[in-house]
Amino acid sequence: MSTHPSVNSEQSIQPVIETRQLTKNYQMGTVEVRALRGIDLTIRRSEFVAIMGASGSGKSTLMNLLGCLDRPTSGEYLLDGVNTNSMRPDEYADIRNQKIGFVFQGFNLLPRTTALENVELPLLYDRHQRVTNPATAARLALERVGLADRLHHIPSQLSGGQQQRVAIARALVNQPAIIFADEPTGNLDSRTSMDIFTLFQELNDEGITIVMVTHERDFAQYARRIVEMRDGLIRRDTPITSRRSARTDLLNFQNHTPDESC
Ligand SMILES: Nc1ncnc2c1ncn2[C@@H]1O[C@H](COP(=O)(O)OP(=O)(O)O)[C@@H](O)[C@H]1O
Ligand SMILES: [Mg+2]
Repeated sequence: MSTHPSVNSEQSIQPVIETRQLTKNYQMGTVEVRALRGIDLTIRRSEFVAIMGASGSGKSTLMNLLGCLDRPTSGEYLLDGVNTNSMRPDEYADIRNQKIGFVFQGFNLLPRTTALENVELPLLYDRHQRVTNPATAARLALERVGLADRLHHIPSQLSGGQQQRVAIARALVNQPAIIFADEPTGNLDSRTSMDIFTLFQELNDEGITIVMVTHERDFAQYARRIVEMRDGLIRRDTPITSRRSARTDLLNFQNHTPDESC
């Protein structure tokens, strides 16, 4: 599936994400938790950003705001050039549906539902019904993530890595401007994680913008930029000059790990 056929230079200069002094407070009874304390972040088209930081530093809160799953307490958020601040809830849901794909640590697939139906769901939820043939779009997305032969399997009939591939296909099916992945390999072993990162790197090489949270510094090296958070603020923002190849790491890992069937 070719989602971003040509990324011209003008498009790559325009930020897909721009936040200004974004904050988020949670009210816990009488206590106010200041989860984000003023985030200024610009992400351009075709970037691959890894967000790192200790537990509780605000990574998921930031992902949920950027992914339009939740709204900020204050500050501005421009998504693909559109200011989301003044949007009504239905407009907010629309922009989420049109521009964003989300991948979660726990896959979040419907259990008694086939891979094909899980991937079709975002298209069926689209109140504008922009895609005329959801089944075909879902099949193409599943083919893209290497699951052409698993269309009619339900999640319990799939491995963890395959379930996450279904979730990635579901994130891709709307041809979003950006994919957010919050600890996408947190429930997967090393080999399967590298396999998933190989897929993310391929998608990014095709021009898809990716923002992911990861705990593991090794995995963050598969991105092109690392944003480190602490106590609700960005503490460091570093480009990766020589990106590691997940495919190469996977091959080396396989060559150096004894085959258990021997
Ligand atoms: N729904 C919520 N209600 C209250 N506090 C929350 C909620 N979600 C997160 N927090 C708090 O906000 C802070 C940041 O959490 P989170 O964004 O989940 O961090 P991370 O993903 O980096 O572990 C933490 O102190 C956490 O306890
Ligand atoms: Mg988190």
